[in-house]
Amino acid sequence: MKFTDAKFVKDFCAMADDGWKLGWHERNGGNLSYRVKKEEVESVKENFKAGEWKPIGTNVPGLKNEYFLVTGSGKFFRNVILDPEDSICMIELDDKGENYRIVWGLVNGGRPTSELPSHLMNHEVKVKINPDYRVIYHAHTTNMIALTFVLPLEDKVFTRELWEMATECPVVFPDGVGVVNWMVPGGRDIAVATSKLMEKYDLAVWAHHGMFAAGPDFDITFGLMHTAEKAAEILVKVLSMSPKKLQTITPDNFRSLAKDFNVNLPEEFLYEK
Ligand code: 13P
Ligand code: ZN
Repeated sequence: MKFTDAKFVKDFCAMADDGWKLGWHERNGGNLSYRVKKEEVESVKENFKAGEWKPIGTNVPGLKNEYFLVTGSGKFFRNVILDPEDSICMIELDDKGENYRIVWGLVNGGRPTSELPSHLMNHEVKVKINPDYRVIYHAHTTNMIALTFVLPLEDKVFTRELWEMATECPVVFPDGVGVVNWMVPGGRDIAVATSKLMEKYDLAVWAHHGMFAAGPDFDITFGLMHTAEKAAEILVKVLSMSPKKLQTITPDNFRSLAKDFNVNLPEEFLYEK
């Protein structure tokens, strides 16, 4: 099968395009990775041409020999659907999880996203907790970035404020949202900080930068990013109208919701203000 005819490749490109259309990927902003299933690797193997082994920049032994579809560093999300061969690549990890090599894509040169350490360390954490998790998505979501200038950079504040903005939020992300203080992007340190939060959450906010989302498939992961960013947009609008809410969803409202929707909402987020 032609590589770009495979469903997982088409779905990957469609998700990148959805994010571009929502304005989350100016220039080369954001990156996406997908841990490819064994049978999907087999279905496109005839197209592989292996490049040189290169260091990942961190160790991910829990992902040894796995294959990932990832966006290229410096590549524009707007071009992913137009020219996937130039914009994305499939990589294979070695048997220690220390090096990668490109087996398809980036035909005009380049390397996987500079956030590869964050993507792979997040995948490694998630696969241990739930082997069904396959997607890690980083986007420059405008409203969430704006909130990192006015809200305290605390998990419990972001979680609670976002939950209050839409009744669906606590159902879509009942575990809450983690927050990483501003750090230099693209390296191992921010990857370590983010993957630590991914032990607890599916969403991590990077102060003054964007968000990371994790999920089992493209729809769920994109939907999570979209739901959180929409809640952030509502909060930006509310705060623009008034510094104080006249009414909101209360801790007891959340407890009733948790019962009826059968979700566990940790009490640490239902504090009295
Ligand atoms: P890349 O182009 O290397 O993926 O970087 C974009 C980005 O958003 C960095 O955080
Ligand atoms: Zn970024």
